[in-house]
Amino acid sequence: MTFADSFDSADFDLAQTDALLSTTRAVRKRLDLHRDVPDDVILECLQLAVQAPTGSNNQGWRWLVVRDADTKERLAEIYRRAGSDYLAAGAAKTEAGSQSARVMTSANYLAEHLGEVPVLVIPMIIGRVDQLSDTPNNEISVGLMGSILPAVWSFQLALRSRGLGSCFTTLHLGDEAAAAEVLGIPPHMTQAGLVPVAYTTGTSFRAAQRPPVEEITYLDRYKNPIR
Ligand SMILES: Cc1cc2nc3c(=O)[nH]c(=O)nc-3n(C[C@H](O)[C@H](O)[C@H](O)COP(=O)(O)O)c2cc1C
Repeated sequence: MTFADSFDSADFDLAQTDALLSTTRAVRKRLDLHRDVPDDVILECLQLAVQAPTGSNNQGWRWLVVRDADTKERLAEIYRRAGSDYLAAGAAKTEAGSQSARVMTSANYLAEHLGEVPVLVIPMIIGRVDQLSDTPNNEISVGLMGSILPAVWSFQLALRSRGLGSCFTTLHLGDEAAAAEVLGIPPHMTQAGLVPVAYTTGTSFRAAQRPPVEEITYLDRYKNPIR
């Protein structure tokens, strides 16, 4: 693929880049389950994704693109089983009509249809927290996840800019070993989620409601208001 190997920040179209950053949503109900997603698009987006930073420039990302219908359904079963308590509890707890209720309805929809999504991508990173150190600490876990999750988000942004949607999910990791067995992933690899990928039905998405950052950003000392 070709993309600019250098670019001057003065030339960015801020309206475009800001719109990409503000409207890339967790897409579940609007995943088009009937439109094929070519390998080329996935590879193009992954090529952009691996421009993301990694600790010590280790570049330990690996990606598994799952298309086989039977394999997807087996992963969907693991996802539903591992996530069943969360999905059921969330659905019961959340106030009808609230943002959380909408998320839970949508999450349950995805769980039901996961095996029908054209492509499931499993991002992985070489290494496991408990094998990287005898005394695992936060530096180890942040270093490991921090070397794959920025790439995953870049992948999702690249998909969005091409008319595809995705949703970062973690529920199947409740039984990561079962998925590893289905996919032949060796024990020294860490799975860092599961990302369903499809073209979206419609291409317009809104920015989400978020708190003003001044309320959650401090100056010099924890809880000291920045403004
Ligand atoms: C760490 C993490 C784990 C998540 N796990 C799941 C998941 O297992 N299933 C799911 O449907 N969505 C999952 N999501 C998506 C969130 O529910 C979603 O990002 C959130 O509701 C905000 O929606 P938005 O991304 O559209 O703003 C996860 C997101 C993150 C960051």
